Amino acid sequence: MFNDISSPLALLETRRSGRPRDMIAPGPDAAQLARMLAIATRIPDHGKLAPWRFVVIDDRAAFARLLADAYARERPDAGKLELQANADFAHQAPVLVAAISTPNAGSKIPRWEQELSAGAAVYNLELAATAMGFVAGWLTGWACASPLVLEALGGKPDDRMAGFVFIGTPSRELEERPRPALDEVVRHWP
Ligand SMILES: Cc1cc2nc3c(=O)[nH]c(=O)nc-3n(C[C@H](O)[C@H](O)[C@H](O)COP(=O)(O)O)c2cc1C
Repeated sequence: MFNDISSPLALLETRRSGRPRDMIAPGPDAAQLARMLAIATRIPDHGKLAPWRFVVIDDRAAFARLLADAYARERPDAGKLELQANADFAHQAPVLVAAISTPNAGSKIPRWEQELSAGAAVYNLELAATAMGFVAGWLTGWACASPLVLEALGGKPDDRMAGFVFIGTPSRELEERPRPALDEVVRHWP
């Protein structure tokens, strides 16, 4: 299957992530990416704090070097395969956006609510990319837990990486995956 973007409901009912390693060109151009990012900011945000930031990774080679340096410092015993996996991660898909949850600690809005807003922002970025005919994939992994990566991407110590969003064109069909039965996740009360 490919995502059905013929109507808003079809999009929501069929959206699937793509696997970043299977993404090929074209990716969004600068105007399309700006449009997606604007849509990503159009999400519920208690207190209007905009507690999230996006970092478009323009230089993949520099990003690969950042991952290699951080990994070497945090896991000096790393083997060749792990180093190669990091390099592959950095170079996959035409476009890569890092998302950072940047809660405002001084606000009366609880941190959890601000972090939920960050998740919504990342998802809207994925949804916008899908609606524009691309495919998106949201990955985390060790780099999202690395203080060195966070700092290098402009995050403060109290921020958290929300994930890496890869965007491109799928090189293969997207397989459907099982979804929870509604009665497993929804109940009426009382
Ligand atoms: C916060 C977050 C982090 C994720 N990190 C990974 C990851 O590191 N690797 C991975 O394979 N999938 C990860 N996923 C799952 C994929 O983004 C995707 O949702 C999943 O493959 C299901 O596909 P679907 O979106 O088409 O249902 C993550 C999802 C979320 C919400």
